[in-house]
Amino acid sequence: MAALDLDRVRAWFPALWSGPGAGEARFDGPGGSLVPSRVADAVADAMTAGMCQRGSLTPLQRRTEETVGAARAALGDLLGTDPRGVVVGRSMTALTFEMARTLAQGWGPGDEVVVTRLDHDSNIRPWVLAAQRAGATVRWLDFDPVTAELDDVRGVLSERTRLVAVTAASNLFGTRPDVAAISAAAHEVGALVYVDAVHLAAHALVDRAALGADLVACSPYKFFGPHLGAVAADPALLETLQPDKLLPSTDAVPERFELGTLPYELLAGVTASVEALADLLEQPTHEGGELPRRERLAASMTALEEHEDALLSRLLEGLDALPGVRVHGSPARRTPTVLLSVEGHDPVAVQEHLVGHGVLAPAGSFYALEASRHAGLGDTGGVRVGLSPYSTAEEVERLLTGLATLTSSQE
Ligand SMILES: Cc1ncc(COP(=O)(O)O)c(C=O)c1O
Repeated sequence: MAALDLDRVRAWFPALWSGPGAGEARFDGPGGSLVPSRVADAVADAMTAGMCQRGSLTPLQRRTEETVGAARAALGDLLGTDPRGVVVGRSMTALTFEMARTLAQGWGPGDEVVVTRLDHDSNIRPWVLAAQRAGATVRWLDFDPVTAELDDVRGVLSERTRLVAVTAASNLFGTRPDVAAISAAAHEVGALVYVDAVHLAAHALVDRAALGADLVACSPYKFFGPHLGAVAADPALLETLQPDKLLPSTDAVPERFELGTLPYELLAGVTASVEALADLLEQPTHEGGELPRRERLAASMTALEEHEDALLSRLLEGLDALPGVRVHGSPARRTPTVLLSVEGHDPVAVQEHLVGHGVLAPAGSFYALEASRHAGLGDTGGVRVGLSPYSTAEEVERLLTGLATLTSSQE
């Protein structure tokens, strides 16, 4: 199995070696990844090219049109879905509110909507508010506060379930629920499934069909890209939905879901970010040129998972050996994202202490508020350590040493 060349990958990220954060061990990836130069260059090139209108008349109009099409194609490859069903928007949160408002047009009293306590609030609140407005009932799927594994979805499904909203990976504990099984059960009762793949997409290959997701959401800024969101669905499903839109804007799918002028420059950055992900593993070109991007993505994400899993094993083993350090959740299948607490220390104090060791591991509940509360961590949460493609073994040791000095100073 081909391995990630970490020096090659790290060389892509100027923030690692210049500027105010240079030299820091960055464990804040789940909040937003670092950005490779090629992504920033693509954004700058698109901005300075003077793009303002799409069309086919002038070379610039055509380039703008191609920029939009290229971003949909890239996101389609990333999520394993038809690019004609890729909707882009300000953020996953904004898109989910819009989708909830649109889908709720068909809900009424007696209908039920399932949300989980494991999810980021962006995949909870839009559905709860939309259900309340429609007079529909919200049913909560809980998780085990110790393991952070979701309960059996069948306990909350009924013939009246219209939608199940579930995360593909928890941004707090790293849990990767069995979304395929959840989707199968939801489809059996005729419900739609909305999957939040924002956290997962930075760590593993997402496959809309394999997840059984009717709609799947991601945010490019979690995987090297600009601050945007995207939701992908079968275009045939989008054809059945009528979002609020302006009268003169097109009624075509997917554009009718996209409010206002698209951020062309950021879309250029999205394409570059997916290309960078596909390039994590250097892959030989073949006679016919490069392999298809989806295949390059699959190979790169496999190499990435291996890299991150190896670091995760060492991290968990090292944390386990530290007295007074508690890791929250022990999911069987997970991303390399770990939430921890240190006995006798507020998470913010732990974060501050680690900054003194050149380690950035933020404290909080990271908008997974229901999850934090259900796990007994209140609104405060813990310290989140997120591994990224650019994380190194030395950085993991630095974190462990930083924590060790804190726990030993207690004795
Ligand atoms: C798991 C998860 N879902 C959704 C979101 C929200 O994404 P956005 O910032 O694009 O609204 C985040 C952001 O942190 C997240 O981690």
